[in-house]
Amino acid sequence: APGTDRFRPRFHFTARQHWINDPNGLIYDAATGLYHLFFQHNPFAAVWGHMSWGHATSTDLLHWTELPVAIPETERASIFSGSVVIDHHNTSGFGRDGVAPWVACYTGCLRRPEGGQAQELAYSLDQGLTWTAHDANPVLDLGLRDFRDPKVFWHAPTGRWCMAVVLPHEHRVLFYASADLKSWAEVGRFGPAGCTQAIWECPDLIEFPAQGRWLLKVDTFEGHPAGSGAQCWVGTFDGCAFQPEGPAFWADHGSDFYAALSFAGLPPGRAPIWLAWMNQHAYAKHTPTGAWCGAMSVPRELGLQPGPNGWQLTQQPVDTRALRGPARELVGPGVLADAGSCTEWLWTLAPGEAHSSTLNLCCGAQGERTEIGVDHRRGTVWIDRSRSGAVVSEPHWAGRQEAPWPAASGPITLRVLVDRCTVEVFSGDGTVALSAVVFPDAASVDAAVLARGGAWAHSRLQCWALDV
Ligand code: FRU
Repeated sequence: APGTDRFRPRFHFTARQHWINDPNGLIYDAATGLYHLFFQHNPFAAVWGHMSWGHATSTDLLHWTELPVAIPETERASIFSGSVVIDHHNTSGFGRDGVAPWVACYTGCLRRPEGGQAQELAYSLDQGLTWTAHDANPVLDLGLRDFRDPKVFWHAPTGRWCMAVVLPHEHRVLFYASADLKSWAEVGRFGPAGCTQAIWECPDLIEFPAQGRWLLKVDTFEGHPAGSGAQCWVGTFDGCAFQPEGPAFWADHGSDFYAALSFAGLPPGRAPIWLAWMNQHAYAKHTPTGAWCGAMSVPRELGLQPGPNGWQLTQQPVDTRALRGPARELVGPGVLADAGSCTEWLWTLAPGEAHSSTLNLCCGAQGERTEIGVDHRRGTVWIDRSRSGAVVSEPHWAGRQEAPWPAASGPITLRVLVDRCTVEVFSGDGTVALSAVVFPDAASVDAAVLARGGAWAHSRLQCWALDV
């Protein structure tokens, strides 16, 4: 409907209607070439509740087809976050007639008198379309009120399944092992560490075989400079214990990158890919999108590279070239009018005498704009949405969201994706990411670049309208 859909992204996943939060069960099915996205979903309203797993598929991670709800809530439990594996050798025994079962492991939020969260299983024999709950759920129950978000994967060196799952209030990730996905034994723990200001949620543990390292990610509900966010460590994992090699760092310095999850099932040798919920619980319900609520981030390819202070995570959005219209270009300062509301930007800049440089996107009447900038003296990249349009009333909304930029005075490249209400900034070969939602006026489609404190040695801004 007009009015509700003007903020709806085109190449970022949103549900046709109602609420979504975390991505769940991300898996690539090599047999069909389909990427499957399950997600936290309220099938009845545009607010959190009745948590169930929604479902969508894509062949290219940019065009999504929404399918019927995969795992609905039941009278016994609502279905919280979790992951999916393909059990090729039928270790679980859920397979039939040679069909390898897909097994979802998620948190059942149980409606029992004392409350409680426990890990449960469901399986699918039709490549994720329909699911049957395991008849002996839960499979991992500590009798706790909060114990959630199992990430299950096959750990080849130990030849068994492994689970990372979180004790939110204790700031601990627990590691479990299993031969059959049904009986689990604790093998290790990580934490408290890093930011322990608020509850931890949604752990992920991602292998980078070429570097012989693993990335441990866990989200914190508060304590990120822009609200909630993903903290990460790089280290080693032997199937039992994770040993960090350096301090925690934020995966994304913006306000809207939460509950990231990586894809299972990618062919060996391919870089890991993750995506996240572009929102935060603190204000999600106040965002002005109407009948639908919540978008996923662009899927990002991950890498690890050595940096001055240890390993650095790199994130690059998946290839968008197939969506690009003709290129437009602006050399030096100035205005690029009528760029549109779904755009990709590539800004290469040699700062020269400039103290700071700004790229204003989604510019319109009364100075409306989403500012993206580089402070060349302080060495930061930032996004400022205080004049970006509809302001969602919450303390985290206004103000600069900043990321450190390691080589401030040198040349810099920014790549920005705008998809109506989503803005994602990548820089520094992917070592810098800033993601935020904005709600500009429909007429705010101009852009401008400007230098402060002196002239640039060089500035080239390229722009493509993106369409699906
Ligand atoms: C994170 C989270 C998870 C939980 C799910 C419930 O956003 O709170 O910890 O499983 O959402 O929807």
